[in-house]
Amino acid sequence: MTEQIVTKNLKFEYEQEDEQKVLVIKDMNIKINKGEFVAILGHNGSGKSTLAKHFNAILLPTQGAVFVDGIDTCTPNQLFNIRKKVGMVFQNPDNQIVATIVEEDVAFALENLGVEPKEIRKRVKEALESVEMYQFKDHAPHQLSGGQKQRVAIAGILAMRPECIVLDEPTAMLDPRGRKEVLDTIIDLNARYSTTVALITHYMDEAAKADRIIVVDHGEVIMEGKPSEVFSHVEKLKEIGLDVPQVTELCYNLRKEGIDIPDDIITEEECIQALEKLLQNA
Ligand SMILES: Nc1ncnc2c1ncn2[C@@H]1O[C@H](COP(=O)(O)OP(=O)(O)O)[C@@H](O)[C@H]1O
Ligand SMILES: [Mg+2]
Repeated sequence: MTEQIVTKNLKFEYEQEDEQKVLVIKDMNIKINKGEFVAILGHNGSGKSTLAKHFNAILLPTQGAVFVDGIDTCTPNQLFNIRKKVGMVFQNPDNQIVATIVEEDVAFALENLGVEPKEIRKRVKEALESVEMYQFKDHAPHQLSGGQKQRVAIAGILAMRPECIVLDEPTAMLDPRGRKEVLDTIIDLNARYSTTVALITHYMDEAAKADRIIVVDHGEVIMEGKPSEVFSHVEKLKEIGLDVPQVTELCYNLRKEGIDIPDDIITEEECIQALEKLLQNA
């Protein structure tokens, strides 16, 4: 397995206006492999966004190091290369859309890079097609729904052909339908193009779709593993203010009542199957 993003004993402190320093990332050792879909969970203020900003050198470590595709993010003159490899998508699509026409918005970064017009057209088409927004290419972004806007923002990143895309709560401002559109897009990118995905989310059902979950609390990794493993620690997650998927909670409560049902259920299908089995044997 090839490593896409590695943090080695990463520490980060913000310097406040009064020159007080706040240690936000304590000692993080994280690995994200190429082609992997990793979800990052944690309570508000646990350091998720700060961590994510290290993945494409928006922030540089106070101590320790971050490597992107083997390149230390502190290496001078590699900033451009790193930003090309790792694209970032943020919470609010309105802050990420710059042009008044969808197509122009997706082309914006490429134009700034001086990419040839023919190549731009090709990449914009591809990027919009991969988020299923090509039919909206002539629309004004403000006419689109939140989910559609966020997909356009993702297309803008994809047009740069990144190896990895980091999404910091990309669905937080969307309605359920927009959330589903964006999540399906992310899953599809990962499955079809093997784009490495780091998804920061508050939604447990989104995290359940990842290959691996990393749970952070107070600037430290406190749990890591497959979604079914991580979500089986219901009590521990609740202690740090996190939930588990609804079906996991249901099974947890059934087990507490003495009912023999597995502790690694994270999807509705798995839950239905387990309940059917119980009823057949009853
Ligand atoms: N620019 C900043 N200056 C000082 N402190 C900050 C700054 N940004 C975030 N913090 C603090 O760092 C901690 C982690 O923040 P953040 O990484 O945004 O967490 P999360 O994304 O998990 O909510 C919080 O306590 C927050 O107040
Ligand atoms: Mg955040």
